[in-house]
Amino acid sequence: MAPHQRVLLPFPLVFLLLLLLVVPPRADAWGKEGHIMVCKIAEKYLSEKAAAAVQALLPESAGGELSTVCPWADTVRWHYHWASPLHYVNTPQVCNFKYSRDCHNSRGQQGMCVVGAINNYTDQLYSYGQKTSYNLTESLMFLAHFVGDVHQPLHVGFEDDEGGNTITVHWYRRKANLHHVWDVSIIDTAIKDFYNKSMDTMVETLKMNLTDGWSDDITHWENCENKHATCANDYAIESIHYSCNYAYKDVEQGITLGDDYFFTRYPIVEKRLAQAGIRLALILNRIFDGDKADDIPLRVQ
Ligand code: ADE
Ligand code: ZN
Ligand code: ZN
Repeated sequence: MAPHQRVLLPFPLVFLLLLLLVVPPRADAWGKEGHIMVCKIAEKYLSEKAAAAVQALLPESAGGELSTVCPWADTVRWHYHWASPLHYVNTPQVCNFKYSRDCHNSRGQQGMCVVGAINNYTDQLYSYGQKTSYNLTESLMFLAHFVGDVHQPLHVGFEDDEGGNTITVHWYRRKANLHHVWDVSIIDTAIKDFYNKSMDTMVETLKMNLTDGWSDDITHWENCENKHATCANDYAIESIHYSCNYAYKDVEQGITLGDDYFFTRYPIVEKRLAQAGIRLALILNRIFDGDKADDIPLRVQ
């Protein structure tokens, strides 16, 4: 091409490119990577029976790996419009979560939030092996995704700022919003700076931490006394506490977040990814390989 020749882009394309530069991306969930990592960890902790049931339910396209379908629920979020509120739950700007007060969609329908969804899809999966009208493949893909979501602190955030979506920030020099920082940016920065740009190396490190550094914590994470529903309620309570104590803490509109924020928050993100993986495995093991005490079908709260 001659040095002075310019490439003329059609106007709509120019407009789209400008829009991408000025409007921070609206975040939906742990990014694709977060969900894949949660499910890669869960796969390692599945019992033989649970792994066999998961294999039987996975779609052909999954290539036999649960982790490949874990971001799926985000890709159908706008197509399955009714499922959009099932990815999160918001509180009225308070640092506690109450199912009866908070778990509803914008039309006030009870149970239409991430905690209700986890209980509901768990309940559906209990019909595995029986005649059922549920599409259990979808139930599994939704469940695996939402267990990840409920562990992203800002998926249990404040209603006024939509879990940080309306809080505009800079992540280092890039424009972002606080929700996106927790879905994607902290993970991306960790992968780039600590794990040689490899998500698989990050997953291996998290798995290693689970067998040494965090090994004493696992029984505590797995502790789920509630035999009638999942412990998703407890996971949401933990998330709103992390939102208040870490995600929202010292953040205001327009702030630039850099090293200080990253170094104090990424340990929380890593812990939440690992917890989500362990707990997803726990739920699937209870469903597909539960002992008699765990055989009671789970009820939506
Ligand atoms: N939309 C509104 N609130 C949200 C939240 N907490 N997480 C994700 N998306 C949302
Ligand atoms: Zn989601
Ligand atoms: Zn999100």
